[in-house]
This record gives sequence, structure tokens and C-alpha cells, in this order.
Amino acid sequence: MPKIIISPSILSADFANLELDIKRVEQAGADWLHVDVMDGHFVPNITIGVPVVKSIKKAAKIPLDVHLMIENPEKYIKSFADAGADILTFHYEAANDVKAVVSLIKAFGVKAGMSIKPMTPPEKVLEFLPLLDLILVMTVEPGFGGQSFMYDCAEKIPVIRKHAHPELIIQVDGGINSETAKICTDFGANSLVAGNYIYNSDDIQKAVQSLR
Ligand code: DX5
Ligand code: ZN
Repeated sequence: MPKIIISPSILSADFANLELDIKRVEQAGADWLHVDVMDGHFVPNITIGVPVVKSIKKAAKIPLDVHLMIENPEKYIKSFADAGADILTFHYEAANDVKAVVSLIKAFGVKAGMSIKPMTPPEKVLEFLPLLDLILVMTVEPGFGGQSFMYDCAEKIPVIRKHAHPELIIQVDGGINSETAKICTDFGANSLVAGNYIYNSDDIQKAVQSLR
């Protein structure tokens, strides 16, 4: 298993000082930058869209891991790929045709990820694992940073790892701190998203290192 990929969520950053907050996590040793896109329909919150992702791309040196919490993801794949996403993760629950969305993402030379919400059983997505570069297991209901980790969700990780191809990245997102990160990596996750834990810590470098 490769090293653990740490992807700080800029949802907990200061949006008025985003460039500085991106540099802070880069200097702390983050591998990717997690960008949460919410449309106010698939989730009850609105965050950022294509123009902001484009600006983030200019400011960031590390890959952009874009988490689309939006309905009809197929409509926006091209725009986010053009904006500079390196990984595009859509939601299983939002896709009308999973295979079509994955093909579209790959057609733009972007890594394809798919995410499942807490109520979605892993069995629903096993057939799609061979197509994916990444599967994101949500460990909170998507929509907001700073929520508590749902332990039951972590139990999906070994089920997915058992059926995964060797290169599949299993990512977790929601309520990740040094304690919940260990639970997830012990279960077979190899990418951790953390917003609140990293950005609200006194020592960002220590926080990133403590997740590894
Ligand atoms: C929640 C987002 C997460 C969120 C994680 O819907 O997908 O990426 O920012 O935040 P924390 O780590 O604070 O739970
Ligand atoms: Zn996210």
C-alpha cells in the first residue's frame, strides 16, 4: 500500500486569504488540496464554483482534489476539468449514469472518483470499483465542515478494500482527526480529507503529520 495521501479541505480555510491558507498546508506537507463544491440542491449548503477553482489552480502547487456535491454532475465535468481539477469526485447518489460520468471524467485526462453518503451501502458500488481511481467514503452527511465522525461508516472501508483493484485510492472525508484517521487507515483507507482538524489547529504542520 502506498503512503497515506493527506488532502486538507479548504472549506475550513479563510476564503478571504485563500492563497495564504493554501501555502500554509503545502508547507505543512499536504499532498493534495480538497475543494468542496456544493450546489444547495444535493446538499443544503452552497460553497464555490468553477471560477474559484480556476483561481485556486493558479495559487496551488499540489493537485486539486475536487469533491462535487452537486446534482447532475455530468453537466459540469468539462468545466471543472478545464478549471484545473486533477481528481474529480462525484456522488453516486447524484449520478444518473455512473459509467457515463466516469468515462467523461477520464476523457479529460482527470482521475475519476466517486463518493458515497453515510446511508449508501458499499455493496451498491462494488461493480463500479474497477472503473475508478478513487472511492470516497463519507464519514459525515455531506454539507458542512466540523461535524462528528460517524464510526459506522468506517466499517464500509474493509468491504471496499476487499473488492478493490490494487491501485484504488480509498479516501475518507468528515470528522477526521488523528484518532479517527488511524481507525480509517487500519481499515484500509489511504487518503484522508481533513478540514477543521488541520485549519483550526495551532500547529498545522503537526496536525498534518499526526494524520500520517
Ligand atoms: C463535508 C465536506 C468535507 C468537510 C470536512 O461535506 O465534504 O470535505 O470540509 O470537514 P471536517 O474535516 O471539518 O469534517
Ligand atoms: Zn469533501
